[in-house]
Amino acid sequence: MARDFTSVGVIGLGTMGAGIVEVFARTGIDVVGVEVDERALELGRQHLRTSTDRALGRGKLSQADAEALHDRVRYTTDLADLADCQLVVEAVPEHLELKKEIFAKLDGVVGPDAILATNTSSLSVTEIAVATQDPKRVVGMHFFNPAPVLQFVEVIKTVITSDEVFEEVKALAERLGKKPVVVGDKAGFIANALLFGYLNHAVSMFEGKYATREDIDDAMRLGCGYPMGPLALMDLIGLDTAYEILDTMYKQGRDRLHAPSPILKHMVSAGLKGRKTGRGFYTYS
Ligand code: CAA
Repeated sequence: MARDFTSVGVIGLGTMGAGIVEVFARTGIDVVGVEVDERALELGRQHLRTSTDRALGRGKLSQADAEALHDRVRYTTDLADLADCQLVVEAVPEHLELKKEIFAKLDGVVGPDAILATNTSSLSVTEIAVATQDPKRVVGMHFFNPAPVLQFVEVIKTVITSDEVFEEVKALAERLGKKPVVVGDKAGFIANALLFGYLNHAVSMFEGKYATREDIDDAMRLGCGYPMGPLALMDLIGLDTAYEILDTMYKQGRDRLHAPSPILKHMVSAGLKGRKTGRGFYTYS
């Protein structure tokens, strides 16, 4: 029988982590949100508030439900506060060593029945799992940005993930109102494997002055009916995150499609990381 998840943890409250916190809290689940310091915690809290304000403004959430949602979230900088969580979802930046370090620590924090999930977009879930003493309980749970809006979750089963853990995470994703799909531990899984070659191509068109950013975006938005153009989407994802995903996929497949366009690295180095820093391909107020 599927476990009744009542308490979960989310590590990393950036764009994805804060969105994931919102998804759990909206479903009535208590969430412990962990960040490295008070400043990062505050940014996560603000991210959540902006998102629920948007939902409120669009009539997707009542004031009372929004307050109840926020009351379900506890913020901390101490991993030890995850001790009673039945599931922990890690959503820190896409650096393998950092993720492995966190998973190794979690072993000593959570109970033996807790499930450990990573929201990695492109790194090997297996490599992250083997950093723990019990890799059977490690699974990938990959949400899409914005997590409260997009109804898709990739559940990544490694060769060692237990069937029980995997089924529980799939059932939980359904309870969150998402459509879960099962996918093997391949860089980019399904959606990013298809998406990032296209995004990278758009960036190199921009870099090669093939067309303006607006025209590239309009081509896909107005010409093909996509909800947003590729450069605006890069800004939403975050150019640093997009760079890391492309770089990982390139190193695995060595295909030119995923070799990150040089301008991406320059923009990231210059702090032009997209919406999160106020400027990427576009400028945000
Ligand atoms: N909770 C619930 N619903 C919310 C919400 C919240 N917190 N915030 C907004 N919404 C709802 C709105 O009410 C609206 O719904 P209706 O259209 O029914 O009114 C809908 O979500 C869209 O919200 P907005 O009107 O505020 O925004 P928008 O219409 O400009 O759409 C967008 C913005 C959702 C981002 C849309 O442009 C979109 O889907 N773009 C594509 C995003 C995409 O491709 N994401 C995948 C990126 S890849 C990834 O994430 C993987 C990775 O590993 C990096």
